[in-house]
Amino acid sequence: MTNHFLDLKDMPSEILWHILDIAKVWKDARRGLPSGVLDEGAPLAGHTLAMIFEKSSTRTRISFEMAMRQLGGTSLVLQGNTMQLGRGETIEDTAKVISGYVDAVMVRADHHNTAVELASKGSVPVINALTDRSHPCQLMADMLTIKEHFGSIQGRKMAWMGDGNNVATSLMEAAVKYDFPLTLACPGEYSPNAEVLAWAREHGGDVSVTIDPFAATKGAHVVFTDTWISMGDDDKDARMDALAPFQVNDALMQFAEPNAIFLHCLPAHRGEEVTASVIDGPQSLVWAAAENRLHAQKAILGWCLGKI
Ligand code: CP
Ligand code: NVA
Repeated sequence: MTNHFLDLKDMPSEILWHILDIAKVWKDARRGLPSGVLDEGAPLAGHTLAMIFEKSSTRTRISFEMAMRQLGGTSLVLQGNTMQLGRGETIEDTAKVISGYVDAVMVRADHHNTAVELASKGSVPVINALTDRSHPCQLMADMLTIKEHFGSIQGRKMAWMGDGNNVATSLMEAAVKYDFPLTLACPGEYSPNAEVLAWAREHGGDVSVTIDPFAATKGAHVVFTDTWISMGDDDKDARMDALAPFQVNDALMQFAEPNAIFLHCLPAHRGEEVTASVIDGPQSLVWAAAENRLHAQKAILGWCLGKI
């Protein structure tokens, strides 16, 4: 069986916990080393990751590239629009051809089905590095950050503010897999994926949705938000109006636990979904979470390639 990392909902919970444990062990093991030095034993020596980007990226591209280097492997960056894929070659043909060259594929795709089809038609592991549906790698970094900060994830109350987007979908799936209560505060027009919400509840998730940001934040240990306009969204004006009441600011953070932390996958828009006072303030762990993309993804790669 090929170890794809497409969505948290498809992953057994014990494997997701194992990935976090290994991420922490590997992170601690290389503390203080320069960024380019190989990890002990170079577990992915001789392995190559192809990275297909149909959308922009800063963190994902650099962190996956450095993850492969530190693990002793190499990576190839491929822009979707410069591949034949961008001129109509089928995903199936692309998947078969790439599988003959590289050991794993990472894809940031406009449409979730591209990632699913690359996985089903190829023969190497495929990692979802953001689609219009979900962003599971981001949530692994967030979970690692929360575990490091609080020492635990289970039972920590979490709140999502604003757009019920791809990151919110992966957060709902994480709530089931890592067993924490989650409330999402979203306007009706931009409410979270209804199928995923139903799935979460069917699988025992304590996941609720409200239009009241203050009620959602009350007693939260972690407050999340994300941009109001994701890549591919074209209804900017309507979004700005509908999402304005969901801004994470000092008044909202007052409703959270006094030791609450703030997370945002980045890129951020200060003055829109979050104020500078919050994202640049003492409760923000956004930089730690961004660094943890590297550490979490190293363990994801290790799992996909059968090394952990
Ligand atoms: N959070 C995240 O995925 O960032 P990039 O879009 O810069 O990769
Ligand atoms: N929701 C955002 C996340 C960016 C990392 C987007 O899809 O553009």
